[in-house]
Amino acid sequence: MQESTIQAPRWGLDNIPFEQIDVSKARENEDLFYLVTSASFIEIASDLYTSNLIQHFSGDDDVVRWLEDHWQHEEMRHGYSLRDYALKVWPEFDWQSAYGSFFEEYSSMCTMEEFEPTRGLEMVARCVVETGTATFYTALSQHSTEPVLTGIAARIRAEEVGHYKHFFQYYKHYCQHESPSRWRVLGAIRRRVVEARNSDAEVALWHVYAHRHPGADRTRDRQAFKKMMSGLGKAVKQHYPVSMAAKMVLRPLGLPARVNHVIEGPLSRAASLLLR
Ligand SMILES: [Fe+2]
Ligand SMILES: [Fe+2]
Repeated sequence: MQESTIQAPRWGLDNIPFEQIDVSKARENEDLFYLVTSASFIEIASDLYTSNLIQHFSGDDDVVRWLEDHWQHEEMRHGYSLRDYALKVWPEFDWQSAYGSFFEEYSSMCTMEEFEPTRGLEMVARCVVETGTATFYTALSQHSTEPVLTGIAARIRAEEVGHYKHFFQYYKHYCQHESPSRWRVLGAIRRRVVEARNSDAEVALWHVYAHRHPGADRTRDRQAFKKMMSGLGKAVKQHYPVSMAAKMVLRPLGLPARVNHVIEGPLSRAASLLLR
């Protein structure tokens, strides 16, 4: 083969040009350290959740196959891409031991009891989770000032949107048998939105923070930690695609287009307030 015909491998999540990272540019922005590292923790720990989820859907071969062959693999790849980025840009940070202490706490939070009562409603909950990740990576890709990270976040975002579409299709499938009322669907959405506000991200960020500030105490240093989180929240909020989030979260309700149109505005404003 002539040299000119050899093509460079395509840049993707399996093939990230880590050598092209502008390390000093990434290090200029402390937000990126917290966002990338905490996201890597949550993505990698999703492996634990996947086996619970697969168990929950056992007997439905189509769903189980997709979860095992695609979803699980892609979520892991998101986590490892972000972890490797963090190792390259912040080598002084002991990622492994911070992840270890995060995992110890996080694994005790994931139990079978947290699933929704029916398979269809669990699919609604999964749609809410994927809305959260798709919109988070939208914001991260825009907040990033370092081109390789911008590319990683944009590619992860595309896969999260794909996950949402799959879960939504499975939800429609289960609806044929379960026919859940809009109130039940709304209940599943609400439970997952409330839960998302106060759990995973905060736990992950705490362990990143605590390893960044050796000796930090969860009670004594609460104020400083909250201040860091609030600064991070403000930064993400600037780029958060609020109307995309509202559209995705509302979709399982199957509301008529004109109703969706009327409530999207107030919902977007409410979401903006929650992001403060
Ligand atoms: Fe992911
Ligand atoms: Fe996902």
